[in-house]
Amino acid sequence: MWYDGPAMQRHLLFIPGPVTCAQSVLEAMAKPLIDHRGPEFAALLARIERGMRPIFGTRADVVLLGGSGTAGLEAAIASAFSPGQRVLAAPVGIFGKRLVNIARSYGLDVAVIDTPYGHALDPSALAAALANDRDIAGILLTHNETSTGVQNDMAALAAAIGDHPATTIVDSVSGLGASAFEMDAWNYDIVVSATQKALSVPPGIAMVAVSPRGWERIAQAKNPRFYLDLARAREFAAQGQTPWTPPVSIAFALDVGIERYHAEGAPHVYARHERYARALRAAVGALDLELFSRPDAHSVTVVALRLPDGLNADAIRRALREEAGVVIGGGQQDLKGKILRIGTMGELTQTDILGAIGALEIVLLRQGHPLQVGSGVRAALEIFLGKEAAPVLVGA
Ligand SMILES: Cc1ncc(COP(=O)(O)O)c(C=O)c1O
Repeated sequence: MWYDGPAMQRHLLFIPGPVTCAQSVLEAMAKPLIDHRGPEFAALLARIERGMRPIFGTRADVVLLGGSGTAGLEAAIASAFSPGQRVLAAPVGIFGKRLVNIARSYGLDVAVIDTPYGHALDPSALAAALANDRDIAGILLTHNETSTGVQNDMAALAAAIGDHPATTIVDSVSGLGASAFEMDAWNYDIVVSATQKALSVPPGIAMVAVSPRGWERIAQAKNPRFYLDLARAREFAAQGQTPWTPPVSIAFALDVGIERYHAEGAPHVYARHERYARALRAAVGALDLELFSRPDAHSVTVVALRLPDGLNADAIRRALREEAGVVIGGGQQDLKGKILRIGTMGELTQTDILGAIGALEIVLLRQGHPLQVGSGVRAALEIFLGKEAAPVLVGA
């Protein structure tokens, strides 16, 4: 134990969601509840929609669903397509594959573009798959793949899609808010995100933005749906309500989270995630570890590193959590034991990042990984002290 006080109680979340939240966001959830069919809730819903639109880069509708990001993704599939329709999916990791599974469970005929783990989707591969097939009804993309620390270039993918008429669905659960997203300019139809990632709010609401063309497609779609019906969510949103009882307390928290987001300012939020990710990547390199994402595919919200043989992912994560209060992610499914994932989202300061890297150094040393003490911290510090960094080490 490297901590002098009572047993470690404070955990800093460096998992890629849920994330550490500001006290004011948490306190918002303790407010007395309100009538979800009354005027106060209608005003709250309108404020949230107004605040979310620029984050999606859209003037279109943003509807809220009670549930996590997966509820939003399932709602998109259930609402936009009909059984038997052909869609093209381009997963770049485990969450993209989950989207394929959702689509298949709704009876869609899913063709898949394979991309090796760690790589971003190649826009020319997407363009080639679409080139001679105007009949594909849908395209399923991931903005940021949390399982591999990879971020797709959504502007380049939009250009590759060009004027293809397919309904485009984008999973931006772990991307939205952390870097620029221009749903309208890029012509995406349905974009899904969730509270517990870059907006630094507890989990419980999926935010789904739908373009006018997306609503047209939804009006024609025949997939079975009830709770996750986006058309019904839109009808109720027009009255300032949700079809079903909403997670009111999470909506209070989201309201504060969005206010904090805009008070910080999107450019600063983008720069903060970018700077933290760069600092972590620099530390990984200095500690003689290998990044899992390719150099042109790095995510700003999660840094994934490949573990060399002999290092035990579970033991590293346990020591960090139990002894340093630093909680990081491991690999999922076939990446289990092979990688570690460190998130940059949430209420984290540069000091937190430096501390987490220092703790990682101690654990790695104890596991026999050769490293020069302080090299990871130093590499990160150099990023923070660079001319693009904020001049102070507390707060971002
Ligand atoms: C890219 C991506 N898609 C989908 C999901 C699923 O979201 P949820 O766990 O909120 O259902 C996640 C969660 O981490 C994610 O990172």
